[in-house]
Amino acid sequence: IPTKLFKDSKEASKAVAQEIADLIREKQKQGKQCILGLATGSSPKSVYAELVRMHKEEGLSFKNVVSFNLDEYFPMEPDSLQSYVRFMKEQLFDKVDIPKENYFIPDGTVPASKVKDFSDEYERKIDAMGGLDFQLLGIGANGHIGFNEPGSLINSRTRLMMLDHSTRVAAASDFGGSLVKVPKKAITLGVSKILNAKRVVLLAWGERKAPVIAEAVEGRVTESVPASYLQTHANALFVIDERAASELT
Ligand code: F6R
Repeated sequence: IPTKLFKDSKEASKAVAQEIADLIREKQKQGKQCILGLATGSSPKSVYAELVRMHKEEGLSFKNVVSFNLDEYFPMEPDSLQSYVRFMKEQLFDKVDIPKENYFIPDGTVPASKVKDFSDEYERKIDAMGGLDFQLLGIGANGHIGFNEPGSLINSRTRLMMLDHSTRVAAASDFGGSLVKVPKKAITLGVSKILNAKRVVLLAWGERKAPVIAEAVEGRVTESVPASYLQTHANALFVIDERAASELT
């Protein structure tokens, strides 16, 4: 997987935001919608901040953007502090001119018995748009992408996933430091749809991610490190800072 190294996450995020902005503008010129796959978590925050700045200061418009988020906790109410709906509104959607009907986030309120139908419909919507033009990803210290935890297959579909213990521990700080408050499950876009995106950019900052970055980039393709599946993608890029790169040979 090609990697691009930056001295810090701020410089890296500017470059990624610029690539996304260029794509949005190119699609605008062609009179087309730009279909983005978006991530939550700490890694993409600086990318969203830069996109908001470009909207405010450089007239970057999101009118032609349609977006699909990777995941949502299950169960989760959209107005909860920890919901990814709330995260996306606060970080990006409420600060730019994306039409409300153009963004989609897995619904953490559907009854458990309806999650399968919901997930199939989510994928159908993406297909109807012609697939994802660009997928933004973070990476779990255990190698997850979206909430495709270790063991997820390369052809896995959008589904309900049991979260790893390590994932729930990492999320506890968002839930007042209380592990028991972290949902045990999440709805995640499947690996297969992620790999179908025309372009994939994965972000990783800090030394906590250094071991898994080395495994995903230099190790073998394995279900125990779902991010290693990106080795099979023809147009994927890992954008990392120096500390996250520190265990690459
Ligand atoms: C979030 C997601 C997760 C995170 C990953 C890294 O939508 O899909 O895979 O990207 O857990 O999280 P941060 O960026 O907080 O280290």
